[in-house]
Amino acid sequence: MSASNNQLDKKSQAWSALFSEPMSELVKRYTASVFFDQRMWRADIQGSLAHADMLAAQGIIGADDLAAIQRGMAQITEEIESGRFEWKLDLEDVHLNIEARLTQLVGDAGKRLHTGRSRNDQVASDVRLWLRSEIDNLAPLLADMQRALVAVAEKHTETVMPGFTHMQVAQPVSFAHHLLAYVEMFARDTERLADVRKRVNRLPLGAAALAGTSYPLDRERVAKALGFDGVCFNSLDAVSDRDFALEFSSFAAITMVHVSRLAEEIVLWMSQNFGFIDLADRYCTGSSIMPQKRNPDVAELARGKSGRVVGHLMGLITLMKGQPLTYNKDNQEDKEPLFDTVDTLRDTLRIMAEMVGGIVVKPDAMEQAALKGYATATDLADYLVKKGLPFRDAHEVVAHAVKQALQQGVDLSALPLDVLKGFHAAIGEDVYEVLTLRGSLNARNVLGGTAPAQVRAQIARHLARLAQTTT
Ligand code: ARG
Repeated sequence: MSASNNQLDKKSQAWSALFSEPMSELVKRYTASVFFDQRMWRADIQGSLAHADMLAAQGIIGADDLAAIQRGMAQITEEIESGRFEWKLDLEDVHLNIEARLTQLVGDAGKRLHTGRSRNDQVASDVRLWLRSEIDNLAPLLADMQRALVAVAEKHTETVMPGFTHMQVAQPVSFAHHLLAYVEMFARDTERLADVRKRVNRLPLGAAALAGTSYPLDRERVAKALGFDGVCFNSLDAVSDRDFALEFSSFAAITMVHVSRLAEEIVLWMSQNFGFIDLADRYCTGSSIMPQKRNPDVAELARGKSGRVVGHLMGLITLMKGQPLTYNKDNQEDKEPLFDTVDTLRDTLRIMAEMVGGIVVKPDAMEQAALKGYATATDLADYLVKKGLPFRDAHEVVAHAVKQALQQGVDLSALPLDVLKGFHAAIGEDVYEVLTLRGSLNARNVLGGTAPAQVRAQIARHLARLAQTTT
């Protein structure tokens, strides 16, 4: 193609003959996004094809133009997939790179593609298309994460560990119950993601630069072709707001915080001071100086990476603040944080699900730890309440009993009956049943409680729910 056929090849001429001097190299590099936004090329081509198809159906371009555009885009797709496509910094971004190549390949039909369209509605549509497909890839990973947790939980409804508040031993819980807490968190994350998708899945194309266009576009047709649930109804809003990205980023930050909490517990549980679990060697690293070390690096990194995802949310939300309507170049800065958020979340969910599957549980260590902190003290108080004492009085009685047990360095269940009776006459032989860890566990047979029967019911509910989600 001749140079005049392909004005886009010269950046200073990309938009008009108005410019009398070329852009400085520094400005070119500063304003270009092609080296990161090329990642959206598939969405860009998809959007262009739907737009072109509609332009032809509306009689705005000819059927021959459409055919040429389709042919050109097929070749470009092939070039990009095979790594032969030449991305040019001079052409600023993914949109101009593809359009320039199209024009080079098919001539005037390529130049007609941008009729009734602006890069402003184009980029907003591309980001939404790209993000939607990433959302659809993430949802199964969240399901896998939950499945991995439920699979371990299934084996440990009777495994007792100390439940903590303030990081102090509080009451006995089962390991299964503890893991299912995370399943609940990831289930809510999944709901949030599905909700975000609804607002991502709206079509900006047709808003053009900001005000709509004078061509008789059929926006509904384009929306349908691209699988959008509908169009954005205000052109100014369509090209300028990125709240869908903020929402996604917020979903991701919350999910990563959940991952981070789990990672932190895995690190704690694996330390010698807890010794609750072990991790398969493939998730650990050694130390270059201390030969005995096996470090839970993967869990630590997952915890650490939550920081960058939360950081991206802060970055994106600050990016939006103070932007007057409508499109501003600030919005080009939405991509890198969004891309990195998706990459980090995807890799983290994958590796954490795998690692959870490789957890080796040490039930004895968990049980010993639960025995250490008078975890059944509340059970003794509840026992007295059932014998007729007001709860506050029972609480006081048990505090005295714990004090004495502490002084003797024994568990409550090791105090002889006559000693226990000394704290309150209502205490009888049957007290020892409630003072055991298992007695305590079984007693918490309320919906959502840690009793094995309840936990098994929850496992069944989760399995049924997860069976409905496809991988
Ligand atoms: N690369 C730009 C972005 O990411 C595309 C839109 C540019 N529009 C414009 N009028 N300069 O936002």
